[in-house]
Amino acid sequence: HQRLKPFPQDFLWSASTSAYQVEGAWDEDGKGPSIIDTKTDLPEGTSDFTVASDHYHRYKEDVALMAEMGFTAYRFSIAWTRIVPDGDGEVNPAGVKFYHDLIDELLAHGIEPIVTMFHFDTPAALNEKGGWASRTTTDAFVRYANILFDEYGSKVKYWLTINEQNMMIMLGVKLGIIDALTDNPARELMQANHNMFLAQARTMIASHEKFPENKIGPAPNISYVYPASPKPEDVIAADNFNSIRNWLYLDLAVRGEYNSVAWAYLEEKGIAPEIAEGDLEVLRAAKPDFIAFNYYNTSTVADAPFGENPDGRGADADQQIAAGEEGVYKAVDNPHLVKTQFGWEIDPVGMRMTYRAIWDRYRLPLIVTENGLGAFDELTEDGRVHDDYRIEYLRRHLEQTQEAITDGVEILGYSPWTAIDLVSTHQGVAKRYGFVYVDRTEDDLRDLARYRKDSFYWYQELIRTNELPA
Ligand code: BG6
Repeated sequence: HQRLKPFPQDFLWSASTSAYQVEGAWDEDGKGPSIIDTKTDLPEGTSDFTVASDHYHRYKEDVALMAEMGFTAYRFSIAWTRIVPDGDGEVNPAGVKFYHDLIDELLAHGIEPIVTMFHFDTPAALNEKGGWASRTTTDAFVRYANILFDEYGSKVKYWLTINEQNMMIMLGVKLGIIDALTDNPARELMQANHNMFLAQARTMIASHEKFPENKIGPAPNISYVYPASPKPEDVIAADNFNSIRNWLYLDLAVRGEYNSVAWAYLEEKGIAPEIAEGDLEVLRAAKPDFIAFNYYNTSTVADAPFGENPDGRGADADQQIAAGEEGVYKAVDNPHLVKTQFGWEIDPVGMRMTYRAIWDRYRLPLIVTENGLGAFDELTEDGRVHDDYRIEYLRRHLEQTQEAITDGVEILGYSPWTAIDLVSTHQGVAKRYGFVYVDRTEDDLRDLARYRKDSFYWYQELIRTNELPA
């Protein structure tokens, strides 16, 4: 476009975190262990999450920094095991109080809380009872969600059900955030997937019943899929992956039905979940108010003819879904894109396409709940981090956001990853995303002091003027 429409006046300017990656205090004040805390096989060099950024003890200081940047919203997750230590038993009053305090602190600064109910940290006790592959966990989640609505529903207007359900299913075993407990892990993962869809649907219904004025939606990771070439077989492969990676999740969340291409794939592989009587009615009855999604990069795939094992295909079920399947698709690099220091492709224009694709298909307002650059940052002697590379990354993605707004897509807000530095899912604290630097290394906690990065001032200026700084 030659002329861009401005960001809406009530645009939600936010940034995101998740409980286990930022809070620390992993066993304090009655919190129970989640699967993150009981994980024993952390990748080499990765710190644990016991202290993280110590946000649990420093939330007031952190909220003050967010307010200084001018945030009008903040997306964080609630740790299920602070509220219900074993997942489905007694409620822990100290955990309930912590989030009241945090929410009150935000509201006192005019910051709208956007709450994720579940961000990877399944209660360990439920995992021992079969985890998400068991309906015990579905029921426990719905109970937990109702506790959250009863406690916080009058204060919190924006709710997200499950963070990146699709990534948990596709990469969760590798990242150690989902356990494959049986000898048919691919089938078990798909049962876990189905049980999460049910949990999400029942939760959306409960929220609407209790607080009709509140808004709730899913938060998958959505990535536009390019065909490697205009070859028709590559285009079909792209559509296959799009169905399995993206639309499976959003079709269920929005329309309450299994995407037919994805379902055919699951059936052919013999891993389709068991659907109990009444499940489909529940799925169909639930309607989200918006679609939140995390965007980091696009995917590019090529045809994978039968008889040819796609490159990079791992032995594990979840890796197979990510890398490809013969007869379905195979993942390839996109030669037109550069990568981050951590090997992730950077594609701002792909973000515009992703907005358009979701909007075209569902016509629901969108919120970006993650997007950002993981990089090695250096704290310089002036007490700053000169992260012009991060500013550039965010600027280019926000330009494309404005292009999408001008295309006619309804976008409610932008919440990049992350408000302050925290521990990455599997690459430690060295991979930083925040506007605020937290002074610690992998194994030296130092004083965990906070320092404003250059991107902090850039984001502040952007929010103040509601315009991208020149
Ligand atoms: C998303 C997750 O997948 O990506 C976050 O929701 C995660 O929890 C983020 O931190 C970035 O990934 P990573 O591996 O760099 O931490």
